[in-house]
Amino acid sequence: MSLVVFDPTNSKHTALIPSFADIHIQCIEIDETIATFMPPLNRHVIIDWWKERAFDAAEGKRVIIMAFSEDTDGAEQLAGFVILYRPLIEPSPFRGTVEKLLVSPKFRRQGLARKLMEKLEEEAKARGQTLLTLDTTTGGSAEMVYPKLGYIQVLV
Ligand SMILES: CC(C)(COP(=O)(O)OP(=O)(O)OC[C@H]1O[C@@H](n2cnc3c(N)ncnc32)[C@H](O)[C@@H]1OP(=O)(O)O)[C@@H](O)C(=O)NCCC(=O)NCCS
Repeated sequence: MSLVVFDPTNSKHTALIPSFADIHIQCIEIDETIATFMPPLNRHVIIDWWKERAFDAAEGKRVIIMAFSEDTDGAEQLAGFVILYRPLIEPSPFRGTVEKLLVSPKFRRQGLARKLMEKLEEEAKARGQTLLTLDTTTGGSAEMVYPKLGYIQVLV
């Protein structure tokens, strides 16, 4: 498994945008995750949404961290990702928001989410973002996962 920060100027990275959309779609359709879109899903709209995130990465508003893993044929592929968001008008520069921690169903329970969040925290700290917040839905797997990664629930 390897972790790479998405570089919007790297054409190999931007070529992965449809794969971001496909994992996003799987998490909504298979896990019923509430992640911006609700079924029926339009893949083109979700691809466009990821293009906007790539644009934000170029602007320095978002950091997208990718996890790559080998499938059963030994081919390395995008297996999951997470976004660190820093609103540029935010008056508290120490704040960061965690968005779209999504791991492909093919690569679950292998520690990818943990590794992605460790890398996100490293990137956040390097940017002076020492308070990270996120929201998730009651009853989803994420509600079980985030406490294991050290996050505490503050509101229901
Ligand atoms: C939640 C999600 C990101 C976890 O990804 P993952 O790579 O399988 O998680 P990890 O293997 O890194 O597991 C991290 C910890 O959570 C635990 N865990 C993982 N999935 C779990 C589940 N469904 N129920 C309970 N615990 C779980 C693991 O055991 C591990 O704890 P440990 O290290 O103490 O053993 C993944 O299931 C997913 O993408 N779900 C759909 C989308 C979603 O809900 N995203 C988050 C909010 S948007």
